[in-house]
Amino acid sequence: MINYEQFYSANAAGMKKSIIRELLKLTGKPGIISFAGGLPAPDMFPVQEITEIVSDLMAREGEKILQYGPTEGYTPLREELLQYMKRQGVELSIDQLVVITSSQQGLDLVGKIFVNRGDVIMMSKPTYVGAIQAFNSYSAHMCGIEIEDDGIDTGMLEREIKKFIAENRKPKFIYLVPDFQNPSGITVSLEKRKELIRIAEKYDLLIVEDSPYKQLRFEGEHEPSFISLNSERVVSLYTFSKILLPGFRLGWMVGPESLVQKAVIAKQAVDLCAPPFNQAVFAEFMKKGLLEKQVAKIITAYREKRDFMLAKLDRYMPDLEGLKWTRPQGGLFLWLTLPGHMDTTEMFTDALEKNVAYVIGSAFDPEGKERNTMRLNFSFASKEQIDQGIKRLAEVIKNR
Ligand SMILES: Cc1ncc(COP(=O)(O)O)c(C=O)c1O
Repeated sequence: MINYEQFYSANAAGMKKSIIRELLKLTGKPGIISFAGGLPAPDMFPVQEITEIVSDLMAREGEKILQYGPTEGYTPLREELLQYMKRQGVELSIDQLVVITSSQQGLDLVGKIFVNRGDVIMMSKPTYVGAIQAFNSYSAHMCGIEIEDDGIDTGMLEREIKKFIAENRKPKFIYLVPDFQNPSGITVSLEKRKELIRIAEKYDLLIVEDSPYKQLRFEGEHEPSFISLNSERVVSLYTFSKILLPGFRLGWMVGPESLVQKAVIAKQAVDLCAPPFNQAVFAEFMKKGLLEKQVAKIITAYREKRDFMLAKLDRYMPDLEGLKWTRPQGGLFLWLTLPGHMDTTEMFTDALEKNVAYVIGSAFDPEGKERNTMRLNFSFASKEQIDQGIKRLAEVIKNR
């Protein structure tokens, strides 16, 4: 038997499987109602429009779009994205934008260009599990800071940063999912956004803003993006996955030109370019003005589902001290906290027996300690499933 372990790099040896991916395998069994995945509703995908665009493009430009493309991205798509960002108050030059193979690749590129083994990254706790996985693969030291109703606890963040600096370990960046965070649904308030910029400036850190859900605001005012508040210290990741469809695996990274150009070089080594064919289809989709329409359609559908899930939680959940859930103004998720003595990992088997699934809170904790929380997705399940699923989940909690 060959000992393959001996061949692994130190980084590879430390890589861990995503708990979510493992759990999702279990939730695939027939009859299960899953609030676990972060999946968009498939009935929202604009299948007809995409089909027409594809056949038109193949007839017109087939030979061009089936070829390799530039690492920076397909120019017509980059231009559409620049206009899109401009409509959101962010003016960028074309060299400040690279099309990426979705935001998960953006997280990997961020790890590649910024993180040496043991480098400190500040982030909220809970945070997006895929970011933990990406940064872990570069052996980063991730420091999780408690999250409050209006975003990361900035006081605690500053204290921890000072401690690291005193140990000669200045953090590299603060990683944030500022809008309808995955997993909590929490949005960082304007006051805290400004405070976070102040902290980044004072201690000379970067901010990595990962914002797949920003456009999916169901009510209230949009908060300004970090990149619109500071163009020098912020790298922002966006994706088509939640506002259009995830199957094409496309997103975009923006930031200061020299950082973006460094990411372009890193990307060259990873995949040469994001799929030109997919980029051409999305460029055409945007050119026809269909993206805004698509987002409006999704918002209406998801708002209704969020309201429905909240109403069912109000109706079915037992009256337990400490049991609460967030009421996000957008996005795909809400976050349920159980009384302190309860453990959602232990409870997971009971839930599967009752044919309902969620994601355990510990998956979103860089230290894996979180015990009494869970993430619920409201975009994927149908209303009937939400009704049944929340009823079953309430029974599981009551029986504990
Ligand atoms: C905060 C966050 N970042 C990044 C991603 C990765 O998405 P994608 O690679 O499809 O753009 C997700 C997906 O759920 C996410 O929630």
